[in-house]
Amino acid sequence: MSPLADEVRIDPWSSAQSTDYSRIIDQFGLQAVDVSAISNPSMHHRRGIVFAHRDLDVVLAAQSRGLPFGVMTGLMPSGRMHLGHKMVIDQVRWFQQQGADVSIAVADLESNATRGVSLSEARKVALEEYVSNYAAMGLDPERTQVYFQSRRSVTQKLGFTLGKRTNLSEMEAIYGFSGDTNLAHVQAPLVQAGDILHPQLDEYGGLRPIVVPVGVDQDPHLRLTRGLASKSNWFNVSPAKNGGLVIGLSLQDDNAAALGIGADGRMDREYRKSLFERICAEVKELGFADFISNPKHGSIQVPSATTSDRASIRMRLLAIERSLGGIGLLQPSSTYHRFAVGLTGGKMSSSQPKSTIFLSDDEATLEKKIKRAFSGGQATVEEHRRLGGDPEMDVAYQYMMFFFEDDDDFLEQTAASYRSGEILAGEMKQLCLERATEWLSNHNEMKAQNAHLVDEFLAHDAR
Ligand code: TRP
Repeated sequence: MSPLADEVRIDPWSSAQSTDYSRIIDQFGLQAVDVSAISNPSMHHRRGIVFAHRDLDVVLAAQSRGLPFGVMTGLMPSGRMHLGHKMVIDQVRWFQQQGADVSIAVADLESNATRGVSLSEARKVALEEYVSNYAAMGLDPERTQVYFQSRRSVTQKLGFTLGKRTNLSEMEAIYGFSGDTNLAHVQAPLVQAGDILHPQLDEYGGLRPIVVPVGVDQDPHLRLTRGLASKSNWFNVSPAKNGGLVIGLSLQDDNAAALGIGADGRMDREYRKSLFERICAEVKELGFADFISNPKHGSIQVPSATTSDRASIRMRLLAIERSLGGIGLLQPSSTYHRFAVGLTGGKMSSSQPKSTIFLSDDEATLEKKIKRAFSGGQATVEEHRRLGGDPEMDVAYQYMMFFFEDDDDFLEQTAASYRSGEILAGEMKQLCLERATEWLSNHNEMKAQNAHLVDEFLAHDAR
């Protein structure tokens, strides 16, 4: 099936990449980030680099009420850690500083199945290439759990059992799979859904909002995972036609008895009534007084509730579902960041070493890469002075904005001076190089200093 001509295709495995961000927001129903709603915005928020989200408000509400919440990410233990990966960890660290616990999946099953990396090689790469850099970047090992997919079987089990909530057509629609797609490729997103959802299980921290910061190319995984979670829910909460919210039942193979339907298909009215009384009592604790409860029909309307109450009502319902024997999964939240351009002007990719900076590059390599970076300057100095440069196109400027420069005012002034022709392309590269070199030498120092912490990042089942 070919995508419609005016549709953006988002594919986590493709080398092509759409940067039409407002169209992406529209097409996939993302929400735009409202920086004023974030109490302590990072430079990525302030600069619009993190530009969209799903249900970030649920996470921020937990944070502001002092309730637990988590952040989740994963790594492919096949390549080297580069600036694109660093940006994700910057965001993970920001959430950690706001109070989140951190779970990090080493996708060793995925890299084994799709890239032929052995599990022992994956472990080595994960620790030496990634976790050592996380330690250098200042993640707190006491509140970070790095685990291996291959050794946390619940991620596979969840992937398998949630698999019954989707089918090949949906996988085709989300990922563009077709008849000749390797089945390891079909399974990997299901295991990844297991990764994203399992921190909510009681053994891994319990029911709480989990946010996944990703590049927008990873949204298909979030769409799949959010769909799987919501399809598994026993109760749903939706806007009521005549105002407020309505709680409904989702009858499934395995929950009929728990929701008051006997083996003969008949309703146990007493049981259903007491279940509904319990739900009303729970929701009442959130401050709602009025309910229009219809146990027979299977709905409870909460007329005074608004959409902003949806998440807290849902959390109560998920807890009830769990107490009745259900799995009770909350849809994960997510945030989406823009991509930094590759050094050479195309996509940044680990398979093209010249397109990015690896955290293990030495200073000479760093210098060479930045000096050769794609520039937004004019062909000659004379033209540049007259016409000015374009910071949007200038990799050196962009890298200061995405990675190396904290100071917003400095960036703004630098962009203005570039546009006016005052700063030349070579000078821009020099500014970037100074900052990049300082960052790298500081990073290396921290890496040596924190090397002894690497093992402490490992969860018990990863040691
Ligand atoms: N598939 C991701 C990648 O290619 C890695 C990954 C595995 C992941 N599990 C995850 C990312 C869970 C986010 C959340 O990099």
